[in-house]
Amino acid sequence: MSVRTVITGTGHYVPPRVVTNFDLEKLMTTSDEWIRQRSGIIERRHVEPGTGTSDLAYEAALKAIEDASIDKSEIDFIIAATLSPDYYFPGLGVIVQAKLGLIPIGALDVRNQCCGFIYAISVADQYIRTGTYKKILLVAAEVQSTNLDYSDEGRDMAVLFGDGAGAVILEPNENDDGRGILSTHLFADGRYVEDLWLEKPSPKDKPVVTEELARAKKFFPRMDGKNVFKNASMRMPEAVRVALEHNGMTVEDISLLIPHQANDRISQMVAHSLRLPLEKVMRNIDRIGNTTAASIPIALDEAIKQGRIKRGDIVALTAFGSGYTWASAVIRW
Ligand code: UT7
Repeated sequence: MSVRTVITGTGHYVPPRVVTNFDLEKLMTTSDEWIRQRSGIIERRHVEPGTGTSDLAYEAALKAIEDASIDKSEIDFIIAATLSPDYYFPGLGVIVQAKLGLIPIGALDVRNQCCGFIYAISVADQYIRTGTYKKILLVAAEVQSTNLDYSDEGRDMAVLFGDGAGAVILEPNENDDGRGILSTHLFADGRYVEDLWLEKPSPKDKPVVTEELARAKKFFPRMDGKNVFKNASMRMPEAVRVALEHNGMTVEDISLLIPHQANDRISQMVAHSLRLPLEKVMRNIDRIGNTTAASIPIALDEAIKQGRIKRGDIVALTAFGSGYTWASAVIRW
């Protein structure tokens, strides 16, 4: 049997500052009731000014390294997934690499927003199975709170998104016990770029940054929430079904589904569509909000630490987001 990739350590970090729905009520026309009913979110975390995505990523990485019981010097490659790197360029991976003191190993950035973690896992899986690398650090992190429109115009997004980071260590499974990543399936439909995007700054413009663009609030992300909601509810179960079929499995085989925490109503619809009991669905959006690429690894780490995943369990991951992109992964834990 060919080598499989196993996750040998997980960790997550969220900044200490809790921002409740009541805090947001002071900034825009919204209410705790509206936010809870429409998204299931009660609170989320925001960084203090000066803290960047790489700071959160570094903390999560340290925890995953400790959890895997390895020395950081054993890591031979880094993959970082984010839509909010510290800088336009270079990417997040190289900054995490330097913070960890792991010069000169390679560091790759994956830019697939809410699907970033699953896309990145699929990349890591190829490197491990081909024997290219032996210990990959995959970190997904976001600081979104510093660039949201906290006026009524941006309230649909401002209440959903939060900051945080999750990380995993991936290694080859040296035992012939069937554990590891069984499949990854990646999808995209680039016709819907404008449904969820940060349009500016864009190198298409000269100059790239103008006061006029700032006045028009072009530097904030925008979303067609209804369309994203509709497609997310359809595409995530679809991606899970494709994965189950690929593995000759049924929904009954799933011990735990970890959907991207986009909106709790979406997670409930995904479960309903798959006829999967809600007890088998990981949901932490009430406390964490939507942390884009970081949401699945944060939820995965919490699920493990809560004892919800046991050795041999089938864990399914799925995500949908900006692009559009959607994806799934199936892991025998
Ligand atoms: O991470 C992956 C990508 N993101 C997602 O998956 C998010 C997908 N979309 C959603 O979660 C939902 O569309 C939202 C939570 C963003 C919005 O919920 P909705 O049930 O689709 O509300 P809506 O867009 O239909 O808006 C209903 C009303 C509107 O007012 P009018 O036009 O009916 O007067 C909105 O302006 O609710 C208003 N609204 C708000 N009201 C209070 C929008 N945001 C807020 C808010 N507080 N924060």
